[in-house]
Amino acid sequence: MSVIDLRSDTVTQPTPGMREAMLSAELGDDVYGEDPTVNRLEQHLAGELGFVAGLFVPTGTMSNLLGLMAHCARGDEYIVGQQAHTYKYEGGGAAVLGSIQPQPLEMQADGSLDLDRVEAAIKQDDFHFARTRLLTLENTMQGKVLPLSYLAAARALTHKRGLALHLDGARLYNAAVKLGVAAAEITRHFDSVSVCLSKGLGAPVGSVLCGSRELIGKARRLRKMVGGGMRQAGVLAAAGLYALEHQVARLADDHANAARLAIGLGELGYAVEPVQTNMVYVEIGERAEALQGFCAERGIKVTTASRLRLVTHLDVSAEDIARVLEAFSAFRRI
Ligand SMILES: Cc1ncc(COP(=O)(O)O)c(C=O)c1O
Repeated sequence: MSVIDLRSDTVTQPTPGMREAMLSAELGDDVYGEDPTVNRLEQHLAGELGFVAGLFVPTGTMSNLLGLMAHCARGDEYIVGQQAHTYKYEGGGAAVLGSIQPQPLEMQADGSLDLDRVEAAIKQDDFHFARTRLLTLENTMQGKVLPLSYLAAARALTHKRGLALHLDGARLYNAAVKLGVAAAEITRHFDSVSVCLSKGLGAPVGSVLCGSRELIGKARRLRKMVGGGMRQAGVLAAAGLYALEHQVARLADDHANAARLAIGLGELGYAVEPVQTNMVYVEIGERAEALQGFCAERGIKVTTASRLRLVTHLDVSAEDIARVLEAFSAFRRI
């Protein structure tokens, strides 16, 4: 029985074509700036997203951290959503390592931050206060796509108030595919963007931070400081390049599978939140642990949250969705 892992889109295995690309990658020492494959990835992604420079790093956590630290100095502040990854799920790194004070705000149901509340949270220039320097958004946010008009409004506000704007674009390409636009249509509103290659895109490792030459120069120094300077990293960057070339358009399949799963669960009587991309949220209540065990016996991996997140990705097929629905149907009957 094959295993279906719905816990996250980080669990994918490199495809045969990706492994080939990794094997044949041209390599050099990237700390010396001499890895041709890393350089190609950085230039390719920065160019595609409308930036001058990019920086390859091992993880999305590091990419966001370097972005925040490159924008903000000690004693500065960034505004961020309560549920945002950079605030809630990255070990408080911006505060711990960057001495950057977070100003978290409640998120709206669509994954955005109310821009009036953002503006109200910007602190006056007064020595009592931290200096508000940056607004950080996430797209997709728990699978939801921020509208382009909202991004334009966030850009206008940050320009007006002299703030920088950073995007945690771990799933930027899911948002672009869902909207049917080039990713640059999203990223053109931002001063910096972190893109994960190891989520829906299916690479085993890696993120890229994109921004101005000055910002990426600062981030490169910070990357060395936090131990993220890798040597023959082209073997990993090759996987990212392969993913960008071959595994972007197929994200639509993941979205279709998630929609199929959500419809099926709804028909079985589960309370399912509306789905936009590759994440399905379903209310399981107190039976979450029982469901996990029940699914495990059927070769299906899920987490144990009462608001359960099911994530589709390149190792989940339409047939797998049918098997998952059978399991959830059987679980409802016991
Ligand atoms: C929205 C978002 N941002 C950033 C990250 C961090 O990525 P990494 O696990 O590579 O550190 C994740 C990881 O799941 C994420 O979901």
